[in-house]
Amino acid sequence: MAGPVDLYAVMGNPVAHSKSPWIHTLFASQTGQRLRYNARLVPVDGFDEALNHFFKEERGGHGLSITVPFKEQAWEHAQHRTPRAEKAGAVNTLWISNDGVLNGDNTDGLGLVRDLTVNHQVDLKNARLLILGAGGAVRGVLEPILEQKPAELVIANRTVSKAEALAELFPGQPVSAGGFADLSEPFDLIINGTSASLQGDLPPLPAEIVNEQTVCYDMMYAREITVFNQWGLAQSARQAIDGLGMLVEQAAEQFQIWRGVRPDTAAVLQQLREDMAVSKETV
Ligand code: ATR
Repeated sequence: MAGPVDLYAVMGNPVAHSKSPWIHTLFASQTGQRLRYNARLVPVDGFDEALNHFFKEERGGHGLSITVPFKEQAWEHAQHRTPRAEKAGAVNTLWISNDGVLNGDNTDGLGLVRDLTVNHQVDLKNARLLILGAGGAVRGVLEPILEQKPAELVIANRTVSKAEALAELFPGQPVSAGGFADLSEPFDLIINGTSASLQGDLPPLPAEIVNEQTVCYDMMYAREITVFNQWGLAQSARQAIDGLGMLVEQAAEQFQIWRGVRPDTAAVLQQLREDMAVSKETV
């Protein structure tokens, strides 16, 4: 007799627009894995209770994706953390191993790196990189980016002290910090990790940081091109990429951790883009 179907979920607040249930359900059908995955809206002060309920009381609760604003709390709850999650200070993937231990990982940085290097053939080795922002989203991706051995990584933020604090986490590595006005040379790759584009805002960036070789990458995505990517293309950037591929790649990494199988991300990403284009027409 088959037991209860293995259960997975994304916990966040808000969570209604999360594409994770859709992505993981597609991964499951693609790989023939028997599981259910749904979205849970968790009250901002209710994460402990939701976690406890999911893993201890629900039959079949196997793994969770964690999104805003609970990634730091998930980090605290994890009894065992991977080294990259440890450094990220945030956990986006939780699962119970056979020994009953609650494990935490952070797949965001790997998702970003895979999207850049595999899906878009952007080589990070020896490249000059600029990352905008110094919040949780940026902290989560720094270590996997540095593992690619860029020549230089500059962290620029509106509040300079926050950028400096992040740079200090990587002593001996080619990381520096500053404000937007300090930037004056072109970069090979500029990653926008600020939440400015959520409000349709653009950090005050000097035009000189972009030339015809520059790739712009916005960790955000939207149906329309983001303000940052629009700006990059207007400054003659070679390419502008949104964060949809990062979303799918970080999910694939979670799926592999949970199920031991790697899904085909290209097919899922293509379908996601097609669905977004269709829903744009019908809105
Ligand atoms: P997240 O989890 O998305 O990283 P966060 O920790 O609140 O969210 O960080 C948001 C980041 O976006 C910060 O780097 C923030 O800059 P400050 O540290 O100076 O607050 C940046 N940010 C948000 N709105 C911005 C704007 N309008 N212009 C420039 N930077 C902005």
